[in-house]
Amino acid sequence: MEFLLLAALLNLVGFAFSDKVYFASGNYTAGVYGSGPTQQFFSANYTPSAWNFVRPQTGIQRYPLGMCLPPPETVVGSDTIRPGPLIFDNDGHLVWDGTNFGETLVFQLETYLGKPHILTWSGDFLATGVGNGYVSLINNRYELVARFTTDLTGITGSTGSDFHEVRITSRNTAVMTAYQTKMMDLSPYGGLPEGFIADSVFQEVNITSGEPLFTWYASEHVDPGECFGRPGLGGAYGPWDYFHINSIDLSNDGNYLISSRYCFTLYYINATNGEIIWRLGGKNSSFAMGDGANYSYQHHARWIFQNDTYARLTVFDNAAESNESNESSSRGLHLALNFSNMSAELIQDFIPYNKTLSQSQGSVQLQPNGNFLIGWGFMPWISEYTSSGELLWVAQFGVVGGDFNEAYRALRYNWSGEPTAPPSIKVIRSSIDNTSNAYVSWNGDTRTQLWELLGSNISSVSGAMSLSNTSRRSFETALTVNTTAHKFNFLAVRALDEGNVSLGVSEFSSIVNGVSAILFGDWRVIFAVTVSVWIAQRTISFI
Ligand SMILES: *[C@@H]1O[C@H](CO)[C@@H](O)[C@H](O)[C@H]1NC(C)=O
Ligand SMILES: *[C@@H]1O[C@H](CO)[C@@H](O)[C@H](O)[C@H]1NC(C)=O
Ligand SMILES: *[C@@H]1O[C@H](CO)[C@@H](O)[C@H](O)[C@H]1NC(C)=O
Ligand SMILES: *[C@@H]1O[C@H](CO)[C@@H](O)[C@H](O)[C@H]1NC(C)=O
Ligand SMILES: *[C@@H]1O[C@H](CO)[C@@H](O)[C@H](O)[C@H]1NC(C)=O
Ligand SMILES: *[C@@H]1O[C@H](CO)[C@@H](O)[C@H](O)[C@H]1NC(C)=O
Ligand SMILES: *[C@@H]1O[C@H](CO)[C@@H](O)[C@H](O)[C@H]1NC(C)=O
Ligand SMILES: *[C@@H]1O[C@H](CO)[C@@H](O)[C@H](O)[C@H]1NC(C)=O
Ligand SMILES: *[C@@H]1O[C@H](CO)[C@@H](O)[C@H](O)[C@H]1NC(C)=O
Ligand SMILES: *[C@@H]1O[C@H](CO)[C@@H](O)[C@H](O)[C@H]1NC(C)=O
Ligand SMILES: *[C@@H]1O[C@H](CO)[C@@H](O)[C@H](O)[C@H]1NC(C)=O
Ligand SMILES: *[C@@H]1O[C@H](CO)[C@@H](O)[C@H](O)[C@H]1NC(C)=O
Repeated sequence: MEFLLLAALLNLVGFAFSDKVYFASGNYTAGVYGSGPTQQFFSANYTPSAWNFVRPQTGIQRYPLGMCLPPPETVVGSDTIRPGPLIFDNDGHLVWDGTNFGETLVFQLETYLGKPHILTWSGDFLATGVGNGYVSLINNRYELVARFTTDLTGITGSTGSDFHEVRITSRNTAVMTAYQTKMMDLSPYGGLPEGFIADSVFQEVNITSGEPLFTWYASEHVDPGECFGRPGLGGAYGPWDYFHINSIDLSNDGNYLISSRYCFTLYYINATNGEIIWRLGGKNSSFAMGDGANYSYQHHARWIFQNDTYARLTVFDNAAESNESNESSSRGLHLALNFSNMSAELIQDFIPYNKTLSQSQGSVQLQPNGNFLIGWGFMPWISEYTSSGELLWVAQFGVVGGDFNEAYRALRYNWSGEPTAPPSIKVIRSSIDNTSNAYVSWNGDTRTQLWELLGSNISSVSGAMSLSNTSRRSFETALTVNTTAHKFNFLAVRALDEGNVSLGVSEFSSIVNGVSAILFGDWRVIFAVTVSVWIAQRTISFI
């Protein structure tokens, strides 16, 4: 308390954002800041995308931290960023940078042993547009709990899990997609008699033992003639991906709802014997498809309600692949299935505000309040709608989509992150006046409310003096220290939760040894990367 008063009296402490979020920025949309503007921090070497709320949210329910956004992929030129899993909050501020896990498509929360865990995929991106790798299961302390993959061998070698889907079942097993190369006579479809397919597989495995428990192969149940593609003339390394499994959902009765992008069909699969129970959409739908209920090249099919006679589900209707399209825009779909008369009816569709076709990826997620969050996949936007289709807000996290900035899915969860690594601090002395800025952040933490600045003449907490408390702002908070008034050799921060309980202390950072040289370097780097971001980042508001 004494120190708070002292700090206030002497006007020693201020705060600044180094996070950058744009609002209705026409320059952002026009590409003035580059094809994929990024954020920069002093205390952490992360470069997540900077969002532009093209149409900012107005008066809608606020959620706690926890927007999960899978990676923008590799960006070239001055906007180079590292792809990987990223968590943002609802205001577009970074919460967790998980790019050390590498580029992924799947990135979501699932319940494992009764607690929410992060799932993210790592591995090789194959030329055929699928993956061969493994899945990491991470707890809310960001500790790796398990690594697992599929147990399959194809003619091109071992076939690890693909990046399109991973789920955790109620018995704490994992279900993953995989693509296995096989020979097939493709002459009935205009291909080679000794042709190759990339068979769509999904497999359930025991996470602790790695043992496969159930394996399903599209080629054993779905004739390629039921789908919409045509075989190429590729060999074993250019196989025909006629089915393209891209989502799996678990149902009340233990069976599986899977999505086939190239058959324009959702299949309901019997978990006991693998047989198709019914088909929704495509050339041989078991359901009569009502007006607007049909889809093509779709993604992310999820149950939202199920009983014996009636069900509701969501799916992202891309309606396009590269330059081919079936509709004037992609759509999020909320559908009803009536099992009494086997009909599928459109309850509501969600139209992108600028009527864009997204040629790949995408997601639709029902929110706890009945809203729908849509990730536009190939196009770098996220938007939220009411259940009746009213657009609430749109944010873009890039200008150019595709290989530049894209998120396979955009999903929102409640998330409480409690990192085991300590908070980060970087103290930079200003060469202009005699102040120093202590920049502080804590990757993945969602609990910190206050940053307590500590000064010391030795690099340990035992001799430290409390200088001030500052409210945490966004990912990185800047604390201004008057080094004329406070001549300490070292500064550190302590993270305090809402009950003022200490959560962790950073290392003690020197403010004298060569810091001004680093300061100069840092500013120059930021300046060189994106001028406009730099200007905005310099916004400092004093309390
Ligand atoms: C937008 O960019 C133009 C030219 O690059 C610049 O003159 C203008 O000031 C920018 N507008 C804003 C609001 O930053
Ligand atoms: C998974 O494997 C472990 C260890 O072998 C075993 O104890 C457990 O019962 C298995 N679980 C399932 C669902 O098969
Ligand atoms: C799934 O297959 C099992 C075994 O053949 C059968 O008993 C069950 O009725 C099937 N389930 C559905 C929903 O068709
Ligand atoms: C169409 O679906 C029915 C079951 O709904 C199945 O018996 C039939 O084999 C399918 N036809 C083709 C050509 O796939
Ligand atoms: C849905 O069906 C209509 C009418 O047959 C067709 O014009 C449209 O292209 C279809 N949409 C998709 C996404 O396949
Ligand atoms: C299934 O849900 C529908 C819609 O809520 C309801 O009308 C129907 O009674 C339910 N049927 C069963 C068997 O619970
Ligand atoms: C789509 O693009 C491919 C390659 O760019 C081209 O070969 C094909 O003819 C195009 N199809 C249509 C319908 O324009
Ligand atoms: C959708 O477009 C694809 C590619 O142009 C075409 O093969 C397919 O028949 C179309 N489907 C519908 C339902 O219009
Ligand atoms: C399902 O369809 C039947 C037959 O048209 C109808 O009687 C029933 O009310 C429908 N169920 C729901 C939940 O709409
Ligand atoms: C099935 O029942 C639903 C709900 O009553 C109705 O809207 C739909 O038109 C019916 N479809 C068919 C194919 O009879
Ligand atoms: C709207 O969509 C087009 C692509 O069709 C894109 O180029 C444009 O930037 C989008 N508008 C905004 C504001 O993102
Ligand atoms: C820093 O503290 C000194 C001594 O208390 C005071 O004279 C000076 O005005 C302060 N500087 C700033 C920028 O607050």
